[in-house]
Amino acid sequence: MKFFLDTANLAEIEEAASWGVLAGVTTNPTLYAREGGKLADFHSHLQRICALTDGPVSGETVGLVRDEIVREGIELAALAPNIIVKIPVMPEGLAATKTLFERGIKVNMTLCFTVPQALLAARAGAAYVSPFVGRFDDISEDGIEHLANTVTALSNYDFGHDIEVIAASVRSANHVTQAALMGCDIATVPFKVLKNLVKHPLTDRGLESFLADWEKVKNS
Ligand code: G3P
Repeated sequence: MKFFLDTANLAEIEEAASWGVLAGVTTNPTLYAREGGKLADFHSHLQRICALTDGPVSGETVGLVRDEIVREGIELAALAPNIIVKIPVMPEGLAATKTLFERGIKVNMTLCFTVPQALLAARAGAAYVSPFVGRFDDISEDGIEHLANTVTALSNYDFGHDIEVIAASVRSANHVTQAALMGCDIATVPFKVLKNLVKHPLTDRGLESFLADWEKVKNS
């Protein structure tokens, strides 16, 4: 499983990249707004993110009609070689994805909640599909079960192009564990979750006792 960071925060991306584990970044309009992002700075902000990782960086479109989405997608793709155009699953989004696919531009279809949505994204030429996990849990449904269904359904077919599943809306280490056990390609996680993935109380306790014992060695 590869790890993407789900953030538009440059410091978080820089820190995760320094750990040597960062394979890409996903952003969305909410994450950019959370950074106090201005419309005029959107493209340059994405370029700054692209400079921090060689991996794919998803920048999302906000248009609701295909021509507008395609135009935004072409502009985004021109920002850096590692930009992925992120487009919500909807009829106009599928049409735009098909056009961008035919132009050789990679698309990540987002806001994916069902198997049919993922299959349609794949058929439209999406290079990535992003099923949301945590938002199902928020409404008392099992987000992991939905993710597993999507991973299984997509693996049943050859779409004639590469497609990777990004577990999105990931809230916990258990989400990551379950996604990895089912063979999900990528988990995109908030920085807070990434930090939690490294931690375990037994690791902390073990380190503490190793260091305490090393003090005895040093003082012997
Ligand atoms: O970037 C899409 C997704 O990961 C958002 O997650 O936490 O807003 O449901 P969340």
